[in-house]
Amino acid sequence: MISIKNAAQIEKMRQAGQLLHYVMMKLCEVIHEGETTAAIDAYAEELIRRHGAVPSFLNYQGYPASICASVDDEVVHGIPNDRKVLKNGSILSIDCGLILDGWQADSAFTVGIGPISPEKQKLIEVTEQCFFEGVRQAVAGNRIGDIGCAIQTFAESRGYGVVRDLTGHGIGRAMHEDPSVPNFGVKGQGVRLRAGMTLAVEPMITLGTWRIKTLDDGWTIKTLDGSACAHYEHTIAVSEEGLPEILTLPGFVWPEG
Ligand code: MF3
Ligand code: CO
Repeated sequence: MISIKNAAQIEKMRQAGQLLHYVMMKLCEVIHEGETTAAIDAYAEELIRRHGAVPSFLNYQGYPASICASVDDEVVHGIPNDRKVLKNGSILSIDCGLILDGWQADSAFTVGIGPISPEKQKLIEVTEQCFFEGVRQAVAGNRIGDIGCAIQTFAESRGYGVVRDLTGHGIGRAMHEDPSVPNFGVKGQGVRLRAGMTLAVEPMITLGTWRIKTLDDGWTIKTLDGSACAHYEHTIAVSEEGLPEILTLPGFVWPEG
């Protein structure tokens, strides 16, 4: 069932989104060579709790941390570890979610550690562009397939892989609500979008195959061919009119034209 949020509920999600954006900005400051993913996780949990929110990933289906920290060919759900030390030349995806006053926010980004290859730099940029191409389609009256089609077309026409086995999702009081929001699809197909729908849109884009595997820890997902992967996610709200609001990117204004 898809839940439509009223203005007061969207305002609650805006507050949660604003806090998550703040947390992500603070995490950016401590990401550098020599840092462990466990230290970044501990800092995330501390920031979230200090502001009266709850880390949504922690204990979710048994997940043991407040962030996912996925390096290079890890796609998503990398478990923070105090023996996992960041190295220059790697790319790191941080995924984090929180619950503020009962309302969820979910967001992810990928950054380079020190200098990275032009290929990895371009991968990060294309993944962010995929997000905006997709989210541009999230207007009332369009369909879910319009989002996925825009993401897939943008990525594949440039030679990148689009992970298919994991998708974006509705979000609200629960982290995962209907509908599912695939990063591939056919224009004009799928659920019709309505004002007040809140979605997490999260392209996972690779330098190679779209195929993935899950490691023996039961969580970490990697590309099957070992190619690097980037992830970019925000929580958005479909507006009555025009382009959607990006709740985890407060102050963002769509460029003209
Ligand atoms: N952003 C991810 C998602 O949308 C995070 C969930 S992972 C878990 O599914 F750690 F919470 F399980
Ligand atoms: Co998500």
